[in-house]
Amino acid sequence: MTITELQEKYKKTEPVTNLTDDQLKEEILRLKKEKNAVILAHYYQEWKIQEIADYVGDSLGLSQQAAKTEADVIVFAGVHFMAETAKILSPQKKVLLPDLDAGCSLADSCPADAFQKFKDAHPGHVVVSYVNCTAEIKALSDIICTSSNAKKIIDSIPQETPIIFAPDVNLGRYLKKVTGRDLVLWDGACIVHDSFSLDKIKSLQEQHPQAKILAHPECSHAILEIADYVDSTAKMLDYSQKDATSTYIVVTEEGILHQMRKASPEKLFLPAPLVTYTECACGECPYMRLNTLEKLYLCLLREEPAIDLDEDLRLKALAPIQRMLELS
Ligand code: 13P
Ligand code: SF4
Repeated sequence: MTITELQEKYKKTEPVTNLTDDQLKEEILRLKKEKNAVILAHYYQEWKIQEIADYVGDSLGLSQQAAKTEADVIVFAGVHFMAETAKILSPQKKVLLPDLDAGCSLADSCPADAFQKFKDAHPGHVVVSYVNCTAEIKALSDIICTSSNAKKIIDSIPQETPIIFAPDVNLGRYLKKVTGRDLVLWDGACIVHDSFSLDKIKSLQEQHPQAKILAHPECSHAILEIADYVDSTAKMLDYSQKDATSTYIVVTEEGILHQMRKASPEKLFLPAPLVTYTECACGECPYMRLNTLEKLYLCLLREEPAIDLDEDLRLKALAPIQRMLELS
């Protein structure tokens, strides 16, 4: 499916309550207190969800929060693999995901049976998997990484040890370049980051010659080549605050622009156009955007959908995540 077809398929659902946004916010805050819940939101969530969350962050920050929270309930405003990672780290807590269909094309691009065969074809390799994968893939991995710590994790592995990197081929190619290691790559990709248009980004830069390009390493090689700064969402946000430039073209899911604009209201942040660009840039992840304020309210009210995991699988997936957290 193309990104446009996915965006069409997952177009915002009709509301099922007649509560206004203000009423939803009020109810969410009340239920959160009553149930001792915490709301963790990824930067790619719609701004209304980011504004009500207790913590907004990137994949690494969110997993660190999930590991240390004292709340009884975690409402995970993100996608399935993120909520699953929270459940792996905090099995005694109830982990809720506002919409269970909030999946990830990258996680889907790496099925466990095919990955097992890939591993078997490369004996003796250490398996480093990007956190954007299922619990089954984590269980087949030696160590997990996020875009924030991927280089550090690869650098921690002895030079002579061969490495498989999965599932994102773009991040893998980028890591080959920055670590100088010859990684064996699984050929998966993110439908959003893989759909940004090099030509349209270049013409946007012609209209704003002073603009710097900030790109997530899940973008294609050609885009990373023209970027001024490449890193995770949290690091892009940090860079945009410390850097002296006034205009940025941001090549990642456009939810992050909310935090960038909040932190630096005097600067101009332009969302990068997708190949399917028409009148809007539309760099929204169709899965991330399945979550709405209303669904967040309903999941907290009903305490479902909740993430459930087989204990044997959870323990196998936990070990490589813990290795990552220890190194971070
Ligand atoms: P980070 O949160 O690690 O920057 O990753 C972005 C992403 O693609 C999550 O789906
Ligand atoms: Fe997955 Fe890409 Fe969406 Fe991130 S932006 S959740 S990698 S599909």
